[in-house]
Amino acid sequence: MEVLHAKERMQEKILRYNEKNMTIGFVPTMGALHEGHLSLVECSRRRDDVTVVSIFVNPAQFNQRDDYEKYPRDLKSDLNHLEQAGVDVVFTPTEQEMYPEPDNREFDFGGLDKVMEGKHRPGHFDGVARIVTRLFDLVMPHRAYFGEKDYQQLAIIRHLTRQMRYNIDIVGCPIIRESDGLAKSSRNARLTHEQRKEAPEISQALFEAIEHSGRCSPDEIREQVISRLNKNPQIDVEYFEIVDDKTLKPIRRKEEAKENRACIAAWVGSVRLIDNVKISF
Ligand code: PAF
Repeated sequence: MEVLHAKERMQEKILRYNEKNMTIGFVPTMGALHEGHLSLVECSRRRDDVTVVSIFVNPAQFNQRDDYEKYPRDLKSDLNHLEQAGVDVVFTPTEQEMYPEPDNREFDFGGLDKVMEGKHRPGHFDGVARIVTRLFDLVMPHRAYFGEKDYQQLAIIRHLTRQMRYNIDIVGCPIIRESDGLAKSSRNARLTHEQRKEAPEISQALFEAIEHSGRCSPDEIREQVISRLNKNPQIDVEYFEIVDDKTLKPIRRKEEAKENRACIAAWVGSVRLIDNVKISF
């Protein structure tokens, strides 16, 4: 496995793969890798000739400096995991390398950014798009892999890819969960022992929502989930929305519901967690 820090080295590597007609699978990450990331690597290893992983904690997508600074980082352990997973190249640039000059681009996501994460984290998806386009331009992958845990991010990246005419197949991979249901996330590492015990209630509320979807409306389920979770003094729901899985438009009544996702963001102490499930009515 090669670990590269400079864009020029990365470009040379990609050129060599292209000369050999090898397909490139790309897994962009912010490090603090867990089984969720490794499942993306596995998908790429099955389908592509080479797998490239980037590790870069992208300051542009954090709205709070504190969240950026506290984001877990463990490069040594990340590289160990990636080596064992059979990754070919890891790209770990510095901030100066990725943003040699300020990047203030704003994107039009066709309204996909007006709900949920976009509404609560202004500018977040512009920050994601800035880094993802820079990485796509550099790696020029045939396929890029993203987790469904960040469901809105995945929808926005699909939109961006079409809009900017990237010839890249965007592959969404299922959420990987702990045995108690908690969605795997780099942020879980920041939960205290006590909070870690309470956090699975978030996914339990989503699973219960699926069970109730036969007899309740999206609006009723929304109320049930929010009031159940807010009864737990350790949990504070930021949003819970049932949305159309393509347009991400919130769905209120059973009649509007077709293919949907129930998406949540909740604070457990000072840690913000997100999760989602497929739900039908
Ligand atoms: O999903 C993430 O970890 C990040 O948003 C991404 C796609 C690596 C961009 O920084």
